[in-house]
Amino acid sequence: MEIEAALAVTDSLVFAQTGKHLNTLQTAIFRGAWLGQKYEEIAEANYCSNSHVKMIGATLWDILSESLAEKITKKNFRAVLERREREELKTDEIGSSETAGLGGAREPITPIQQDWGEAIDVSVFYGRISELATLEKWIQVDRCRLMGVLGMGGIGKTALSVKLAQQLQEHFEYLIWRMPVAALMRRLSFGMSRRVSA
Ligand SMILES: Nc1ncnc2c1ncn2[C@@H]1O[C@H](COP(=O)(O)OP(=O)(O)OP(=O)(O)O)[C@@H](O)[C@H]1O
Ligand SMILES: [Mg+2]
Repeated sequence: MEIEAALAVTDSLVFAQTGKHLNTLQTAIFRGAWLGQKYEEIAEANYCSNSHVKMIGATLWDILSESLAEKITKKNFRAVLERREREELKTDEIGSSETAGLGGAREPITPIQQDWGEAIDVSVFYGRISELATLEKWIQVDRCRLMGVLGMGGIGKTALSVKLAQQLQEHFEYLIWRMPVAALMRRLSFGMSRRVSA
């Protein structure tokens, strides 16, 4: 695995986990560690203290551990990334027609069928960056098939789910968006009572 490819994969994993891209020092630590440098060498090359580099490095390995669901350390991260890439390649050979990157960073595919049902308009949508990144990671990286979004009425659960579906649409051949039955019933009975009282 080339270092640039490993860095790109790591950056997207970190972004999915934290909502932030790798910063300069994290990138330098990754590059140095990939090449087998000691923390002292990385610290010296980047005009930082050894303890600071160690601390930032440890946080980076923790984020990757969480993201890849296995213990990642300075010693094993290169081997783990390379192994995961081999595993992904094997899975592709076995039958997937989609090209999956390490950790699920899939290439966009052309959607064949989309049915947006009662999806609300989210052309004006603010914030929720870290929530979207978390949900995207759960679907793309962890391959989670069922997720619950809980919150107060009107807080933006439906809007968040539509925005997420829009963001991920190019990664799926089929997309069907449906309103939960309970919400649909509420909406229908509200419409009926208005009509009755009108
Ligand atoms: N991030 C956002 N930016 C802009 N508008 C938003 C955002 N989130 C929600 N809204 C708007 O707030 C309103 C309520 O949002 P939404 O219907 O998603 O809430 P909800 O949590 O699903 O409510 P309910 O519990 O009643 O189903 C909608 O008009 C929606 O467009
Ligand atoms: Mg809702």
